[in-house]
Amino acid sequence: MRMSKRIENLPPYLFVEISRKIAEKKARGEQVISFAIGDPDIPTPSHIIDRLCQAAQDPTNHRYPESEGLPELHRAIAEWYKKRFGVSLDADKEVLPLIGAKEGVAHIALCFIDPGDIALVPDPGYPVYAIGTMLAGGNPYSMPLVEETDFLPDLDAIPGHVLQKAKLLWLNYPNNPTGAVADMDFFNRVVRFAQQHNLAVCHDAPYSEVAFDDYQPVSFMQADGAKEVGIEFHSLSKSYNMTGWRIGMAVGNAEMIDALKRVKSNLDSGIPQAIQYAAIEALTGPQDCIPEHNAIYQKRRDLVVDMLNSVGLEAKLPKASLYIWAKVPKGYTSVELANALLEEVGIVVTPGIGYGKNGEGYVRLSLTLPNAALVKGLSRLAGWHRVKK
Ligand SMILES: Cc1ncc(COP(=O)(O)O)c(C=O)c1O
Repeated sequence: MRMSKRIENLPPYLFVEISRKIAEKKARGEQVISFAIGDPDIPTPSHIIDRLCQAAQDPTNHRYPESEGLPELHRAIAEWYKKRFGVSLDADKEVLPLIGAKEGVAHIALCFIDPGDIALVPDPGYPVYAIGTMLAGGNPYSMPLVEETDFLPDLDAIPGHVLQKAKLLWLNYPNNPTGAVADMDFFNRVVRFAQQHNLAVCHDAPYSEVAFDDYQPVSFMQADGAKEVGIEFHSLSKSYNMTGWRIGMAVGNAEMIDALKRVKSNLDSGIPQAIQYAAIEALTGPQDCIPEHNAIYQKRRDLVVDMLNSVGLEAKLPKASLYIWAKVPKGYTSVELANALLEEVGIVVTPGIGYGKNGEGYVRLSLTLPNAALVKGLSRLAGWHRVKK
């Protein structure tokens, strides 16, 4: 058997290795508390589940779904964007439901990237931007996200020869893993930069609804001219605690949406229809769950940041996202610190290097574990004594 070069060069997905380590510990009877994965512990709101159960009983939803998604779902997404961001979208041409944002993020590379082409990706960043590019035969070019520039990329630092080959520009705010946010000035600059260098912009925004202290994240689609140069990926995973249902969307530039639709219609057969009805309920039904969940995450954020600082893992309060980006103390790499915390106090954090070379020097903690486990994890962390190296 001879596998493709594509597969030979493909690293295992970041969390596969972390899940393996947790499983090993558990098999030895040790209790592990995981701050690793951003997967909401709070259940999906009951009105959404009720709608799903009702739709699952209807035999018309047992057959192949519409591959482009139900027209009602397209309309619900467009209405949600209008209400939430004041952005008008053509529900037919500028909206595409996805089987979770992840598959859209990966598949859009097939629409733009030929062998040798470049996609500009944030580093540290969600791994799928670079992996999707590589699977399409292209090369990811890392844009460093560093504290000095508030974890925004320095677009002017990208060399001309890279820009000549670059076709896609990836951005993600509120950001995973740094928790950073972007404002309209930045997004307006991105539109001008994309026009100047003939780039298609992909803004990935699954955390736009997870925000604290009355902060309201903005959408890239609100920038002047955004629809001419790009699309935004979104998801119901984190906004409505629906990671397990697998539903998201892409919105914006009609040509990009049409290209993604063409790829997807050849690869998948759409989202199970009962789940589409549940998503319509989520987007058009009561929205109280969002501030309720954010109040829970905000309390957790405050507890985690306090404890991290008290044990010498310097961290700032993020305005949004589900993540705390904590500095690794001198004498450790991010992997060494993650291993030390797992071995010495049984807590799992994600090493920053897993998100790219500029993630070195940090670890990421997620706020998506139940309060009791979080408090227990923090009390373990309180007992952790850093070994001076
Ligand atoms: C930045 C980012 N984009 C996309 C996704 C994928 O979201 P979905 O569950 O909709 O596939 C995640 C999930 O953690 C993420 O962190």
